[in-house]
Amino acid sequence: MSFTVTGPLPGASFGGRIGPSGGAASVVASAEADPDALPKALADSMGLLLLKGMDAIAQDASLLLRLSRIFGPEIEDYRNNLTPLHMVHPEVKEILIVSNKPPVSRQPPALPDPPLTADGRFPVQFPHRRGWHTDQSYRRPPPDVSLFFAVTPVPKGQGQTLFANGALAYDALSPALKAKIDGLDGLHTKGRTGRSRDQVLAGEPVQVLKSHERSQRQPVVRTHPVTGRRALYLCEYGQMDWLDGPFVGMEPGPKGEGAALLQELMSHITQPRFVYVHEWDAGDLLIWDNRCLMHAATWYDAAKLERVMWRTTVSGNPGDAYAGEKKSWIPAAAD
Ligand SMILES: [Fe+2]
Repeated sequence: MSFTVTGPLPGASFGGRIGPSGGAASVVASAEADPDALPKALADSMGLLLLKGMDAIAQDASLLLRLSRIFGPEIEDYRNNLTPLHMVHPEVKEILIVSNKPPVSRQPPALPDPPLTADGRFPVQFPHRRGWHTDQSYRRPPPDVSLFFAVTPVPKGQGQTLFANGALAYDALSPALKAKIDGLDGLHTKGRTGRSRDQVLAGEPVQVLKSHERSQRQPVVRTHPVTGRRALYLCEYGQMDWLDGPFVGMEPGPKGEGAALLQELMSHITQPRFVYVHEWDAGDLLIWDNRCLMHAATWYDAAKLERVMWRTTVSGNPGDAYAGEKKSWIPAAAD
C-alpha cells in the first residue's frame, strides 16, 4: 500500500491527511516497508499529518511505538527522564499518558476569558488563547516530532488541539522584524520553577535549579534540517523564562523590552490564518513537527468528561545549531 496525502487540513493553509485508512496495523506495516514515505509527507505538509481510523493502537500500544520509530532515531523512554511512572503507559514506557483520569489526573487548561472572541468565534490568537508552546523546548537539543493518539477524546467543541505554523508566520514578518530577531535567542524554561510570567508577576519564590534543570537558549528563528525553511520557535507565558528572559540580551522581565517583543511575535504567529484547529475523533493520530509548529491544548469539562490521549516524542535531528551537543536535561555526576 502506498500513502496518499490530502491537504491542507480543513480551515487551514497547511497539514495533510494520510490515506487510505486500512487500519493501524496496515498503516504501520506500510510505513515500515517504505520508511521515507511518511517523513516526506510530514515535510511536504509543513509539519502536520492526520491519520484517522487508527483505533487498533488502543489495543496494541506497540503499534504507536513502531510508527514513532519511522520519524527519527530516538524515542523518548519515560523510565529514564524522571517522569512519574503513573503518567507512563504500563507496557510501553515510551508512551506518555495525557488524561484527567486517575492516576494521571492532569487537568485541562482554563477556558479563555471571555470564551469567544468579540465577533463570536472560537479564540485561537494569543493572548486571548493561552498555552501556546512547542514540546520540551526547555531542553537542548529539543525534540523533533510528537505523535498524539486519541484513545478517548472528548466530544467536539471541547478539548481541541491547536497548531500554529511558525514557517508561514516567519515568512509574513516585516523585513524590519526579521532583521530584529535574526540571531536572537529565547530563554525557555520548564514550568513551575518560579520563572513563568504569572509566577514572576506574583513574586513567587524562585527555585534553585540544578544545572540539568536550568533554562535553555533556543534560536527564535530555526532552520528546519529537512526542508531548509526558516520558522519561528517560541513559547509564551508558561514556558519562557520571565526572570532572565524571555530573550537573551534584551531587557528582561514581564514589563521589559523582551516581553513586548514576545507579545508581538506570539500574537503574530497565532493569527487564525496560520492556525489549524483539530477536533478529535477516537482513533485519530496527529503527528506534528515541533521544529516548525507551535501548539496549544484547550479547555474541556473535566468534571463531566474523561479524556485519555497517548503521546510519544521523537528526537535526533534538531539541525546544525545543535550539532554535537550533550543532552542538557541529563544530570551530571555532580548534580
Ligand atoms: Fe505539548
